[in-house]
Amino acid sequence: MENLFNFGRMSHLVSPSILTANFANLQAEVEMLNQSQADWIHVDVMDGVFVPNISFGFPVVKSINKYAQKPLDVHLMIVEPDRYLEEFKEAGAAGITVHYEACTHLNRTIQKIKELGCRAGVAINPHTPVALLEDVIADVDMVLIMSVNPGFGGQKFIQNTYKKIREVKQLSATRNPGLYIEIDGGVDQNNVAELLQAGANVLVAGNSVFSAANPVAAISQLKNS
Ligand code: DX5
Ligand code: ZN
Repeated sequence: MENLFNFGRMSHLVSPSILTANFANLQAEVEMLNQSQADWIHVDVMDGVFVPNISFGFPVVKSINKYAQKPLDVHLMIVEPDRYLEEFKEAGAAGITVHYEACTHLNRTIQKIKELGCRAGVAINPHTPVALLEDVIADVDMVLIMSVNPGFGGQKFIQNTYKKIREVKQLSATRNPGLYIEIDGGVDQNNVAELLQAGANVLVAGNSVFSAANPVAAISQLKNS
């Protein structure tokens, strides 16, 4: 049940990752998310170059968007994302997140995402220090902290993430207090409280939602934590 007595605390967002959904019946999976307390739908695009896995491209994103009643939170794990920003916008992306490690001219990429009318995010891999975001933090709408090495769902959460959340929170406090701080990888019932306490305000969850006996209830649990 919705926590009706949770006055005063900014509620966090839940963005279930479609990567772990049943691809043979994506329409049903998207309709399940429509009925749930999910705020966004996290869409993981992998190119087999930036990460050692290939997921899907534009036709699948378009198909998801056809049925989605929630904003698509598109996470690009691809090299040279600049080449495809317009097409992802066309495919239905409300937000586009690119990897710090994949962008030579990150400032330009961020500006382009914003010009397209999308929420602009930058993601950092587990080995990338938060300090490198110093000169981009004021320009982005979201920082995505990878809490696993990108490429696959269902991996083990990396504990060093808590420290990085606190660092992003501190870095954004004066320069971008409205920043979305999204955590991606290994998020579940066991770490949600600590993640929120550290300063996360958007939770991505793949395996813990889609492998649950009741995915709608799993989403509610993350949302009402
Ligand atoms: C990993 C992806 C994640 C992944 C999360 O490269 O970016 O979004 O789907 O899945 P879980 O929650 O299963 O770790
Ligand atoms: Zn992701």
